[in-house]
Amino acid sequence: MKRSLSGIKPTGNLTLGNYIGALKNFKKYQDDYENFIFIADLHALTLPIDPIELRNNTKDIVAFYIAAGLDPEKTTIFLQSDVSAHSEINTILQNYLYMGELSRMTQFKDKSKKMNENAIGLGLFAYPVLMCGDILLYDADVVPVGEDQKQHVELCRDLVHRFNNRYNKELFKMPEPIIPKVGARIMSLSDPTRKMSKSDPKGDIFLKDDLNIVRKKIMSAVTDLGSDIYFDPVNKPGISNLLQIYASLKEITIKEAEEIFKDCHRYGEFKKAVADVVIEVLTPFQAKYKEVLASGKIDEILNEGARRANYIANKTLIKVKKTVGLYVHK
Ligand code: AMP
Ligand code: TRP
Repeated sequence: MKRSLSGIKPTGNLTLGNYIGALKNFKKYQDDYENFIFIADLHALTLPIDPIELRNNTKDIVAFYIAAGLDPEKTTIFLQSDVSAHSEINTILQNYLYMGELSRMTQFKDKSKKMNENAIGLGLFAYPVLMCGDILLYDADVVPVGEDQKQHVELCRDLVHRFNNRYNKELFKMPEPIIPKVGARIMSLSDPTRKMSKSDPKGDIFLKDDLNIVRKKIMSAVTDLGSDIYFDPVNKPGISNLLQIYASLKEITIKEAEEIFKDCHRYGEFKKAVADVVIEVLTPFQAKYKEVLASGKIDEILNEGARRANYIANKTLIKVKKTVGLYVHK
């Protein structure tokens, strides 16, 4: 059976961007693939984070996964830090990725340029190494992610070539990034030229937001000149972003969404339709999220996930150790 793998960092309040770009796509694979979905808690440490917040965010993400339709019987849901093979393979793989290519990663450049040059953690720089390990430990065929993570999966593909060539065998499988056709990059509602990214309370819709606030945020989203509704991210970034949100949540194409609103020449009316669909999706989602947190089942889910993930990951790790010449003995 083919395998799918993805994860989210527990670094803040998840947004509608996370939901559309990643979360809602995770369940697409759980019936036909072996599905591994984890919480990238070690990656969360790559930028300073309060320990209590990290722990709470971690539990939140488990509940979000279930609320988004993941079934722990079918999908292995686990914590990265519960599977020590992630850290071990990281130590091996760091020797096969180069400082030049790591320093060209957009995410590293964006995050580090906002920081004091003398206080950029090594983990932030080496972030993609650990991410490659995450993917390779499970022989993932597909990796569903939003647009911003595509470059990291591509780096992982380069590493697979490099590693397999070096040892002259097909040790690692070639993973393929799966980027949603609609909604791979949801923009901020207050500045549609910026990505929606857990940090702007006005422009971000948080998955835990009160639904009245969600409606208010959408109704006051920054829009563009004119009154026609069509997709043109350069000249009409605000309207185009709302069209993406609408189309993605309705599971239709942008063209179909444009068709629905072609005779609607009032932005207010269009925004109301967008708010309605967002609320329609978030209402059961939030109810399920609360139910999971209250159920006390989080630890049980993570224990079982860790058991299954460790089994697979440790097998891969042994193969890797043998390949590079570490002495694996009885
Ligand atoms: P992160 O919050 O950085 O751990 O991202 C988790 C997942 O959500 C990744 O697959 C990202 O690509 C995706 N993602 C984050 N922000 C957005 C956004 N604004 N639009 C679409 N996908 C996003
Ligand atoms: N880097 C991803 C993000 O920020 C999270 C992540 C870590 C991930 N390891 C992964 C995603 C492996 C897919 C596969 O969104």
